[in-house]
Amino acid sequence: MKYPDDFINKIIQGDCLDVMKEIPDNSIDLVITSPPYDNLRDYKGYSFDFEGIANELYRIIKQGGVIVWVVGDATINGSETGTSFKQALYFKEIGFNLHDTMIWERATIPQSGHRYEPMFEYMFIISKGKPKTFNPIMVKKLFTETRKVKKSHRNKKGEFGLLKVPKTKMKIDGNIWKISQGGGISTKDKIAHEHPAIFPDKLAERHIKSWSNEGDLILDPMCGSGTTCKMAKLLKRNYIGIEISKDYCEIARKRLGQEILF
Ligand SMILES: C[S@@+](CC[C@H](N)C(=O)[O-])C[C@H]1O[C@@H](n2cnc3c(N)ncnc32)[C@H](O)[C@@H]1O
Repeated sequence: MKYPDDFINKIIQGDCLDVMKEIPDNSIDLVITSPPYDNLRDYKGYSFDFEGIANELYRIIKQGGVIVWVVGDATINGSETGTSFKQALYFKEIGFNLHDTMIWERATIPQSGHRYEPMFEYMFIISKGKPKTFNPIMVKKLFTETRKVKKSHRNKKGEFGLLKVPKTKMKIDGNIWKISQGGGISTKDKIAHEHPAIFPDKLAERHIKSWSNEGDLILDPMCGSGTTCKMAKLLKRNYIGIEISKDYCEIARKRLGQEILF
């Protein structure tokens, strides 16, 4: 395979660890992905080498680039595995920042009755240095000030003065995002549901807008049905999707309106 012609704006079939080896150092602006956590679902039996993947990601991400790592834990023998946290801490160990631990609030998953029904996944925001792009999603403040707030502060000479704080109606959104499982997935996009574990279009859209700009290069190394790539294309970013399963590659390519090259 030849980089960039065979990679950019393509879905590539293969083990992401092998495919990423062909991607140059410091070339990716943003990664959005959801790994096959704790073999919770059956992804045709594929496993993955987390530490190998994390190290390759560090090499290929630009300084200031971000990884959005969407993950949850399985409960095995009555205990949560804690794999998600182990992964977040490993990213830190190899030099990344753990910029934020965000929550994706979703519908509850029925349980045996011994614990509250789980209704979230983590969205770890991992960055290589300080994120170079942050276009925060703004929401309406519940309460807006009716007058200018003044706070006392020290000026350059160290004297106390008054600071004018502008009246605003909007604020940066919180780090818990409530998005339904089908969030933003059009009813016409039925093929997406042929994959067992898609994340919502809306989730990918919000992260792409937050951590990248038009023309940036976005990677999903375990792209499944291609949600990240589809939204990257719609939002005028470039993308690379890697997926180990031939069947899932086919779903992703169909969603992206690409030719199926088998
Ligand atoms: C949770 S799913 C991703 C779903 C995706 N976010 C979507 O919206 O469709 C994880 C995917 O990782 C793929 N996968 C597992 N190991 C892989 C590997 N080593 N390289 C590439 N893909 C892999 C699985 O086949 C599965 O489709």
